[in-house]
Amino acid sequence: MASVKPMSYPLMEKLVALTRRRGFLFQSSEIYGGINAVYDYGPLGVELKRNVKNIWWRDMVTAREDIVGMDAAILMHPKVWEASGHVENFHDPMVECRKCRRRYRLDHLPENTKVCPECKGELAEPKQFNLMFKTFLGSTAEGAQEIYLRPETAQGIFVNFDNVVSSNRVKLPFGIAQLGKAFRNEITTGNFIFRTREFEQMEMEYFIRPGENSHWLEYWANERLNWFKSLGIKEEKLRLRAHDKDELAHYSTACYDVEYEFPYGFSELEGIADRGTYDLTQHINLSGKKLQFVDQDNGGDKLVPAVVETSAGVDRTVLTLLADSYWEDEENDRVVLRLHPNVAPFKVAVFPLFNKQGMPEVARKLYEDLRYKFSAFYDTGGSIGKRYRRQDEAGTPFCLTIDHQTLEDRTVTLRDRDSLEQIRVSLDQVEKALDERIA
Ligand code: GAP
Repeated sequence: MASVKPMSYPLMEKLVALTRRRGFLFQSSEIYGGINAVYDYGPLGVELKRNVKNIWWRDMVTAREDIVGMDAAILMHPKVWEASGHVENFHDPMVECRKCRRRYRLDHLPENTKVCPECKGELAEPKQFNLMFKTFLGSTAEGAQEIYLRPETAQGIFVNFDNVVSSNRVKLPFGIAQLGKAFRNEITTGNFIFRTREFEQMEMEYFIRPGENSHWLEYWANERLNWFKSLGIKEEKLRLRAHDKDELAHYSTACYDVEYEFPYGFSELEGIADRGTYDLTQHINLSGKKLQFVDQDNGGDKLVPAVVETSAGVDRTVLTLLADSYWEDEENDRVVLRLHPNVAPFKVAVFPLFNKQGMPEVARKLYEDLRYKFSAFYDTGGSIGKRYRRQDEAGTPFCLTIDHQTLEDRTVTLRDRDSLEQIRVSLDQVEKALDERIA
């Protein structure tokens, strides 16, 4: 597997600068010096991220009869993580430099590394480091209960299996999907939002008859690869990679990763894993509850279903979209995010050429008419060239300019971000023209 090295790639550095400049992403708590590997999404970033999550929900829940959604709490009973195996197994091997105290993940260092890559100090013996964050439920003075911030959203689905099955008419095979925050006290971080300590997952557990595992694993691996392509990510930079046996997580017997080729090599965006009956069996054993499915289609057969999981990272998808769409258009001296219109924070920007002669009134009316349907941006600041450049960096696929001619013949300029083509469209045809281009 490609290991993630510390950030020193020109593209990643340019993305950090652009996303800060345009208000996509900020270092968390920046005014206090920041906190390592935690990021905040600004006005443009939150739109991009929300679009990713909405498209995932639309494609995985709304558009599918066989998948239902849910939203579990982040805080869960500590026994959940005993049952899931995370207390015992969710470790990474860590080595610490005796001199500078820097910590590294052993599997991210070249084999047989004995000295610190930064200061050349001696590395101590490796230790197993549990990645779960601990916190307390209740007052510590009164013997509060130690609990964890969830390291994956999946367990919220498994512990609610019986609740969902008994309250919904689901038939095998069926899925339960949810998206939300997860937390991991990662030893090594870096490469911007690729590996952070607080992130969001989009997970779906697909419950199947045991024995059908390989079929559904292949099915979901291909579905998920195609989903990333549907976001406009370059096909040649995406691949599916099957895990070697020694890479498998403690709960899975087979797994594919959807990977993207970042400047630092192919790296994981999503895991599609055969979790078998591991999780439900573990929860049956520890909770004593009967988590089973009564299969009315098979004469009321009672069974513990097997599971194929799809588990994608929201933030990694955002990073992929940014890295994949970044384009330095030297010919036209501009930087562009060539985002697919479906994910772009704004689909269209509206500008009056001048802030006078009736142009702002027409522009504002057009903006008001478009904003709910297309998520539009209105800008009057600076020269028209500067306004175009700002939208290029924001990834806005279309700009509409109201000028002198608009006042005469009620047409506007529609500018295409990528080709720079400009055409005249009559005001009453703008919505249709955008529909044709954004669909
Ligand atoms: N429920 C299975 C599971 O959590 P995982 O491979 O550990 O599997 C799934 O995580 C996805 O979550 C990864 O493919 C990645 O996109 C995202 N992810 C995991 N750790 C992350 C981190 N520290 N920062 C950002 N995203 C992360």
